[in-house]
Amino acid sequence: MVKKLLQVLKGEALSPPPVWLMRQAGRYLPEYRALRANVTDFVAFCLNPDLAVEVTLQPVRRFHLDAAILFADILLVPYALGQKLWFAEGEGPRLEPVRDAAGIAGLRYDADKLLPVMQTIKGVRRALSADTALIGFAGAPWTVATYMIEGRGGTDHETVRALAWRESQTFPRLIDLLVDATSQYLIAQADAGAEALQLFESWAGTVPAGLFERAVLEPTARIVRAVKARHPSLPIIGFPRGAGSWLKRYAEATGVDGVGVDQMTDIAALELPAKVTRQGNLDPILLLQGGEAMRAEARRLVAAMRGKPFIFNLGHGVMQPTPPEHVAELIDAIRK
Ligand code: CP3
Repeated sequence: MVKKLLQVLKGEALSPPPVWLMRQAGRYLPEYRALRANVTDFVAFCLNPDLAVEVTLQPVRRFHLDAAILFADILLVPYALGQKLWFAEGEGPRLEPVRDAAGIAGLRYDADKLLPVMQTIKGVRRALSADTALIGFAGAPWTVATYMIEGRGGTDHETVRALAWRESQTFPRLIDLLVDATSQYLIAQADAGAEALQLFESWAGTVPAGLFERAVLEPTARIVRAVKARHPSLPIIGFPRGAGSWLKRYAEATGVDGVGVDQMTDIAALELPAKVTRQGNLDPILLLQGGEAMRAEARRLVAAMRGKPFIFNLGHGVMQPTPPEHVAELIDAIRK
C-alpha cells in the first residue's frame, strides 16, 4: 500500500492532500492527559516505550491522520549530551545553561540514553496501518543550542546571539557537537523504522541575517548530508519557523525534500525549487476557534495548493486548549 505522505514528499501532487498536525499528540487530548497524570517526570514519560507508543497512536486512531509523529521531544538530545533538563509545571522546559568552553567540554553524546526512543519507533511501526507513515524528528542545531544556552525558551535570545557573534570557538564547537549528535540520533531513528524525518528549527525567526548561513543553513545541510549518506531515499522536512525571506535559500542550501511553512508566510506564492514539497500552514488559532472560519480557510489553502506537492498541516503546533472535535472537523473539510 502506498503512503500518501511519502508519495507527496517525492514531489507528487495529491488531491486531497495528506494531512498531519504538529503537536497532534499532547495535552489537548483527554486520553493523553489521563496517561500523563500517572508520570511526574516528562523525560521519563518520553523514554517509556509502552507509554510513548500509545501516545503516538492516540491522535492517529481518533482522526485517521496520514502520518504519526514519534512522541518524544527535541530536548532529549541535550539530555543525552549530559545536560540537566527538567520541565517545571506551567513553565515549559528548563535546562542548566551551558555558556562557555568548560561547559561544552563536559558534554558527550550517549546514544544509549535514547535507545528507548528506538523501541518506541519499532512499536509504533508494528501497530500502524499500511497507509500511515511514521515521522521521526529532532530539533535543528540553532534551536537546540538556544535552549541549551538560554536555559529556557524565552523570547529575544540575547545570550545565544551574543555567544554566536563572539570571536571564540565556543559557539561553533556547540554547533558541531549538535550536528554530530543529531545526525547519529536521526540515523538511529531511520534504522529503527522512521519513514520520514522532520527537523524543527522553531527559533529560525531570532537568527540575525549575518549568522543565518553559519547557524542555520550550514549545520542543517550537514545533518541532511549525513542522514542521506546512510538512508539516501529517506525524505527530510525542514521547518524553519519565522524564516520569512530565507525560505527559498533554506530549501536550496540544505537539501531538504520538504519545507514546513509557518502561518505568517503566503505558502502558495512562495518560490521554492520545483521538486520541494510544502507543508503547512493553517493558523493554529483557527483550529482553536473552529467553525466556518476554520473550514473556509482550510478549503482556500487546499485550493491554492492544488497541483503542487503539498502536505496539509498547521503553521505551528496544536494549542493546548484546542477542542479535539475541531481537529475532526478540519480533517473532514480537507478530505471532502
Ligand atoms: O505530537 C507531536 O508533535 C510529537 C511530540 C513532540 C513534543 N514536542 C511533545 C511535547 C514534538 C514534535 C515536540 C517538539 C518540540 N519540543 C519543539 C519543536 C516544535 C515547536 O513547538 O516549536 C520544541 C520547541 C520543544 C520544546 C518543548 N517541549 C517545549 C517548549 C515544551 C513546553 C511547552 C508545551 O508546548 O507544552 C515541551 C514539552 C512537551 N513536548 C509537551 C509535549 C506533549 C508537554 C509536556 C507535558 O505533557 O507536560
